[in-house]
Amino acid sequence: MTKEHWLKLGCTGAVVAAVLAASGLSNLRGAKAQSNGDSRIEIGLRAAPVPLNMKGRNPAQVGLGSYLVNVAGDCNGCHSAGPQSEYARGGNPFFGQPTQTNPATYLGGGRDFGALIPGSAHIISRNLTPDSSGLPEGGNSFDEFVQIMRTGVDPDQMHPTCTGAPDANCIPAPFDGSLLQVMPWPNFKDLSDHDLRAIYEYLKAVPCVQGNYPGEAANRCG
Ligand code: HEC
Repeated sequence: MTKEHWLKLGCTGAVVAAVLAASGLSNLRGAKAQSNGDSRIEIGLRAAPVPLNMKGRNPAQVGLGSYLVNVAGDCNGCHSAGPQSEYARGGNPFFGQPTQTNPATYLGGGRDFGALIPGSAHIISRNLTPDSSGLPEGGNSFDEFVQIMRTGVDPDQMHPTCTGAPDANCIPAPFDGSLLQVMPWPNFKDLSDHDLRAIYEYLKAVPCVQGNYPGEAANRCG
């Protein structure tokens, strides 16, 4: 290749770089600069959007749990009260604002996914924060939590299968009313024991919120 060729290629490269920069496509370089590292525990501890109660807890478990809840699992996307209040004022990433989760609705449940057919029970996400007992989801033990995540069986039986005409308290067959609907347990059931323990420990460490689930005891946070 002659000197002229190299010069030409070099110029083309510069032009391409300039065009990329102008169009914002040079973000490839930005992505590298913003590397998060490889430690899910550290990323998780940074990603927790609320102050955590770490007393007597294993930071490695809580950090991994936070990673699974906040980064990978998006539990709060469903277990907050809905898109209007999921983010703090001025903190909605979908408005182009820097993300700021609303602590008042964080994992507090009450997002209404509507009815499976008109007139049947609404599917509403539950409050996952610890109540005054200190256990998550209104007092579930670790064994109960594992059972929920692995089988989808609803321990509270909030919406049995309708036996007659659908009403606001039941869900119609072929939906099985004993199973949680919408909740992605068919995916979560394959999480490792280690990961489920980490999620549970993280849920114990988040602050209690009253949440938005209808009929919740008014003093659930004690
Ligand atoms: C796509 C939405 C969605 C996502 C994502 C989601 N959930 Fe759920 N979850 C729900 C809904 C809705 C219910 C209640 C379903 C019902 O009433 O049939 C529920 C119920 C639950 C329950 C049962 C609570 C109880 O008191 O019985 C637990 C536990 C739970 N979710 C944990 C989680 C965790 C942990 C994550 C993240 C790893 C998660 N969920 C992510 C929608 C979701």
